[in-house]
Amino acid sequence: MTKQIFMTRRIPALAEEMLRAAGYEVTVSTKDGVLTRDELKSALVEKQYDGVVSLLTDSIDADIIATMPPSVKIIANYAVGFNNIDVAAARARGMVVTNTPDVLTATVAEHTVALILTAASRIAEGDRFIREGKFVGWDPLLLLGMDIKGKTLGLLGAGRIGSEVADILHKGFGMEVLYCDTKPNEMLESACAAKFFATHEEVLEKADIVSIHVPLLPTTQHLINAERLLRMKKNAILVNTSRGPVVDELALVEALKAGTIRGAALDVFEFEPKVTPELLALPNVVVNPHLASATEGTRTKMAEMAATNIIETLEGRTAPNALA
Ligand code: DGY
Repeated sequence: MTKQIFMTRRIPALAEEMLRAAGYEVTVSTKDGVLTRDELKSALVEKQYDGVVSLLTDSIDADIIATMPPSVKIIANYAVGFNNIDVAAARARGMVVTNTPDVLTATVAEHTVALILTAASRIAEGDRFIREGKFVGWDPLLLLGMDIKGKTLGLLGAGRIGSEVADILHKGFGMEVLYCDTKPNEMLESACAAKFFATHEEVLEKADIVSIHVPLLPTTQHLINAERLLRMKKNAILVNTSRGPVVDELALVEALKAGTIRGAALDVFEFEPKVTPELLALPNVVVNPHLASATEGTRTKMAEMAATNIIETLEGRTAPNALA
């Protein structure tokens, strides 16, 4: 019997090409957007699917997993983050869950650095200033930014992406690197002379740029809350390219309004795709629609990885990115 794959949304064509070349039939949702819960449930039972390609915007919780036909052997998430999937529920039904690590590390790190520079050099504000017809000539006091050379970078989470951000900013901008994680990262320490701190507070109190690189877990939800925002330096910038709910967005609005921190650069939002309206009214916030991995090359590699994970699983081998 021909193996059946369902994709909840179109991703770069390479995935479909690989799956078809492996002899599988691929059904791609024709909706131009995220399937609603009900749409996802009905789509999943249209055929006896063997594999599902899901996106970070699909909530694959225990209820959705229970509606999947028992024929589904793998859920291949098209993202490195997998907080959208109830992995335990999938495992309990004998399904493999995979993600797309490594291929996006450099891209997300570059994007993080771009956001840091944008916020520190006030590039988005300058862009708006010109578009609004306000530029009447060079002004010695116009939109003064903050140098980052020699300043201190504080990482909350020092895995692959955090380490890459540190590498760029330490080697390229001479930044001192401090980090907090569940355990020390020896490679980061030897590559960037990074210093480990056991508490987030110690990093927040010392850093000029705070960059978040933790997965979204019950323990990291609202990791940045009103109290911790108060621990940050008044001139510090908070950058988030991880997951929105790691930051209490309302508390961030209050901190920015009160000037207890200098600014923020956000690629992700607590109530994504909604953005807290007050954030948009603040000039010292740079916002981006969850684009950190969005280069043609990286998104294609992610598609290749998702397809490989499906093929390996359905051919009876171990998927290279099966979650442990
Ligand atoms: C991921 O892969 O988890 C990223 O958030 C995608 O941009």
